Amino acid sequence: MKNKLIYLSAAIAFAFFTSCKKSEGESSATEMVQKEEYQGKEIGTEHDAEIDKLIAQMTIEEKIGMLHGNSMFTSGGVKRLGIPELKMADGPLGVREEISRDNWAPAGLTNDFATYYPAGGGLAATWNAEMAHTFGNSLGEELRARDKDMLLSPAINMVRTPLGGRTYEYMSEDPFLNKKIAVPLIVGLQEKDVMACVKHFAANNQETNRDFVDVQIDERTLREIYLPAFEASVKEAKAYSIMGAYNKFRGEYLCENDYMLNKILRDEWGFKGVVVSDWAAVHSTAKSLKNGLDIEMGTPKPFNEFFLADKLIAAVKSGEVSEKEIDLHVKRILRVLFQVKAMGGGERAKGSIATEAHYQDAYKIAAEAIVLLKNENNALPLKLDGVKSIAVIGNNATKKNALGGFGAGVKTKREVTPLEGLKNRLPSSIKINYAEGYLERYEEKNKGNLGNITSTGPVTIDQLDPAKVLEAVEAAKKSDVAIIFAGSNRDYETEASDRRDLHLPFGQEELIKKVLAVNPRTIVVMIAGAPFDLNEVSQKSSALVWSWFNGSEGGNALADVILGKVNPSGKLPWTMPKNIMDSPAHATNSFPGGKAVNYAEGILIGYRWFDTKNVAPLYPFGYGLSYTTFALGNAKSNKDSYAQNEIIEVTVEVKNTGNVDGKEVVQLYTSKSDSKITRAAQELKGFKKVAVKAGGSEKVTIKVPVKELAYYDVASKKWTIEPGKYTLNIGNSSRDLKFKLDVTIK
Ligand code: BGC
Repeated sequence: MKNKLIYLSAAIAFAFFTSCKKSEGESSATEMVQKEEYQGKEIGTEHDAEIDKLIAQMTIEEKIGMLHGNSMFTSGGVKRLGIPELKMADGPLGVREEISRDNWAPAGLTNDFATYYPAGGGLAATWNAEMAHTFGNSLGEELRARDKDMLLSPAINMVRTPLGGRTYEYMSEDPFLNKKIAVPLIVGLQEKDVMACVKHFAANNQETNRDFVDVQIDERTLREIYLPAFEASVKEAKAYSIMGAYNKFRGEYLCENDYMLNKILRDEWGFKGVVVSDWAAVHSTAKSLKNGLDIEMGTPKPFNEFFLADKLIAAVKSGEVSEKEIDLHVKRILRVLFQVKAMGGGERAKGSIATEAHYQDAYKIAAEAIVLLKNENNALPLKLDGVKSIAVIGNNATKKNALGGFGAGVKTKREVTPLEGLKNRLPSSIKINYAEGYLERYEEKNKGNLGNITSTGPVTIDQLDPAKVLEAVEAAKKSDVAIIFAGSNRDYETEASDRRDLHLPFGQEELIKKVLAVNPRTIVVMIAGAPFDLNEVSQKSSALVWSWFNGSEGGNALADVILGKVNPSGKLPWTMPKNIMDSPAHATNSFPGGKAVNYAEGILIGYRWFDTKNVAPLYPFGYGLSYTTFALGNAKSNKDSYAQNEIIEVTVEVKNTGNVDGKEVVQLYTSKSDSKITRAAQELKGFKKVAVKAGGSEKVTIKVPVKELAYYDVASKKWTIEPGKYTLNIGNSSRDLKFKLDVTIK
């Protein structure tokens, strides 16, 4: 682990609408189809005879060589039998640069520059399954170009606290949105003959003490909140591999957790792929293997000293582990190698990397990810008539974010910063007055806390540099418009440490106030992956935009939103609280725990808590504005009453009542006020993104299989549908619900 820290310090130094063929100007309420259902391909067994023959020829050492890392990112092959190493690469934002075989130092290649894709939160903010599929396809091609077999991604742990260091990397606080993005991503990726390694299974929701913290979650919460995206990744997307997490769950490490790996993952869900450990997350030999782990990966030490290396050979020799057990794991690995055509000679998908086409994929996703949080008096899009100069303020205007945060870092040749994006898109007649405004600075004595998992988050220096402030204020004064690029970065939000609080670091709040005081035409843009305290900023500024660690084309997408070429359509995938103590894990005083952490809020994660407890958020889950206005009308269900195996179909008309084309996300939440069990006030059960031309209208159909309404009954260990009346709340954010339809479930 510590060696990784050294690496970290070194690192610090419309597919969517192609299916919608509507003639121009057509404004009748005809249906637009957005592909929603994605099914992956089951791991085949057609090579089993060949696999058994190979296994029969292998020595015990050769077999065990396949069950552990033989370099930083490969597990062993058997050359003499034509079995290749299984080649892995991080990660969620793009294919990570090549790492040395036996240490964390970059290998220093020149052909491993990749496309940097928007981070998980951004992808989820598109609320668009087709974007996730494009993301997977595009990344899969990059992985093939690097001749890898497995991508250590997607990272789909639930966002339990806004302070989580990996919030930016993960998708959402809602299990339904999480799975609806994860499944098409995995399917898209695996279509390119590579394996997704879905991580981190499971209940890995904080960085603090992640190496040992024992997570306690009640069974119903586990099933309803923390597992659904993993379950869908296995059952629907047919993910070929899963990564076991660092932490413990109910007393057992997750890489040797019989309940999670054998009982749930394999027995209940029918997982046929391989379980790979997180890096150095293994703590035992026979137990790990018996309890479901297939491959041990880790940080450097002689690879033969891994738990599943020499120690396992000894365990077989002593009779503690049977050779039959070893064969079972070897067979799983061989099956997935055949599945992605790393073996067997089938024609494998071709790769390409950092191509213009991939940058454009990243652009499309980035453009749909940006969320417009506030737009008083139509301050945006920026009208350029009469504008001769623009002040661009903030360290984030020029900060590059691709290469931060351990395994989520991407080495890229293209990262368009916000300042470059504006320069690319603005006419050259407009003068840009750039000022850095604030400095990214950390307390020297706490520097080690960057990425230090034993303490929460780095301590920032929040005093502004007077000279920098002066420069920023002068730039704002002399310019017609000011844009402040604020937020955080990938060193402050990172794997291996959680943030200490929600405050905007580096004195940015004060800077924003000073700039607003001299130029009321100031737009604030947040570049960040997780919630921040924006109470004052959102009150004082008239325009507030949320961008993410938004990939190679992030700056261009942002400029296009600011200037109106792109009408924003992103929606928050989590709740932005007013105060961290309003957030469920904090309100229940159950974060970060010590040796153990008990998720005391139970099923009331994210907006479920805010809505049930009547706590007002700063910005609610599902929220995001547009440059146009939409009116939802005529919401109807196709029936009043449904059997348990039926599908509820709700149609809604979405009318674009403004002057520009735009996209809206229609959201459907269900509630059951007379339930006999404890429930959240409402839960997301369906959504659809739709493009509507100015003045036009579209009919949207949202399908909710009745089985989505089931709760997990702990006593019977079954998903159970409570009969009776349910209310379907339909709107364009979790707190802007225009229709309530009652239906009965028999
Ligand atoms: C992370 C994983 C990552 C692995 C390899 C671990 O620290 O938790 O997400 O894939 O390192 O870099």
